[in-house]
Amino acid sequence: MSKHIQAIRGMNDLLPDDLVWWQRIEEQARSVLHAYGYREIRFPVLEKTDLYRRSIGEVTDIVEKEMYTFEDRNGESLTLRPEGTAGCVRAGIENGILHNQVQRLWYLGPMFRHERPQKGRYRQFHQIGVEAFGMATPDLDTELLLLCQRLWRALGVDGLTLELNSLGTSQARAAYREALVAYLQGRLDELDEDSRQRLHKNPLRVLDSKNPAMQPVIGDAPKLTAYLDDVSLEHFATLGKMLAQAGIKFVHNPRLVRGLDYYTRTVFEWTTDRLGAQSAVCAGGRYDGLVSMLGGQDTAAAGFAIGLERLVELLQQKGGAIEAASRPQVYVAIAGETEEATQGLALAETLREEGFRVECHCGGGSLKSQLKRADRSGAKLAILIGRDEIARGEVGVKVLASGAQEQIGRGELTAYLRSRLV
Ligand code: HAM
Repeated sequence: MSKHIQAIRGMNDLLPDDLVWWQRIEEQARSVLHAYGYREIRFPVLEKTDLYRRSIGEVTDIVEKEMYTFEDRNGESLTLRPEGTAGCVRAGIENGILHNQVQRLWYLGPMFRHERPQKGRYRQFHQIGVEAFGMATPDLDTELLLLCQRLWRALGVDGLTLELNSLGTSQARAAYREALVAYLQGRLDELDEDSRQRLHKNPLRVLDSKNPAMQPVIGDAPKLTAYLDDVSLEHFATLGKMLAQAGIKFVHNPRLVRGLDYYTRTVFEWTTDRLGAQSAVCAGGRYDGLVSMLGGQDTAAAGFAIGLERLVELLQQKGGAIEAASRPQVYVAIAGETEEATQGLALAETLREEGFRVECHCGGGSLKSQLKRADRSGAKLAILIGRDEIARGEVGVKVLASGAQEQIGRGELTAYLRSRLV
């Protein structure tokens, strides 16, 4: 037999036992998002490569090294989306739902980055993303963070730190960039290889270096805060006050620069120390310039995305049982042949109509093996149907945990199940 074909490195299969956690997060997220007036949007997984070049930035790790880019059969360069903001903005502009309007949108789906896979970092991963358009003031930034906090509470996620910074306008950042390059050139000998490469292409990213040897250079570097324009400073100060009023704790991290170029003013990350190197569970910020950069009218915008693999991992680490809504409550076992199986299928249909989750045994086999399967299915009760039961208008009901069994008339079955299964 030939060797089986394996999945692509860094792209995971999600099996039913894992998906119980995913579904719980997705349900809670939907309910929180709807509570804030966010509406779902879906856009393609593939876009023209230029969309990402223009929005994320030519000299970012994502665009330079991580995109899954290929030519389609017409020779057009396409890219699997590495993130959702660009596609969401493109779709918003194209469908005329951003201009002169307030929009609160969310999406969920896979993203693709050719990064080096490790725990918490994959090549296909999933985000729940949130994008809000047409609101320029820091009340919106505050509301986004309130939404995050409400979701953490709903899910029982604790121990997250909110790191916050302001990147100012693109002009302020350009002035800072110049000062930073001049400073780094003065300490060229102390820069590692990576930082030297970033020095001219994307000097702000030097501040992101995790190399301990680089920390003294980074520590002495000029601070972005000193170069911020007055309006951005005021935006940031007001945001700080509003967050304090709203009871949201944060730390100002002046080194937080983010890996995508479209941000202006507020940027933030919710981080944890429980996931090793991949500490950001959720990240985002304001991107007031992006809509016009992509050909739309000037529109203020801000948003964030949650990394679902990381959030699932956090919840699983915490442990605890989870009510498995995808598991059957009742398993119908068949003692007999075609006639009994037909009756079993019909009974299962009736019970489903009454609202129960029912797995009906198919595929034959001894009663013993059927009861083993019933145990594994997660059902609480097994219903046994055989020739005698059919003749008497009864079924056998077995409590799988204890093994206790009794005969119940078909007329009383619904009431019996209701009393046992709620
Ligand atoms: P990002 O920081 O690149 O931002 O990604 C957001 C989150 O996605 C990260 O904090 C992390 O939890 C998760 N993530 C990123 N890369 C991976 C990976 N390789 N494996 C697993 N999880 C990953 C954005 O994507 C922006 N579009 C967020 C945003 C929305 N900003 C404004 N609106």
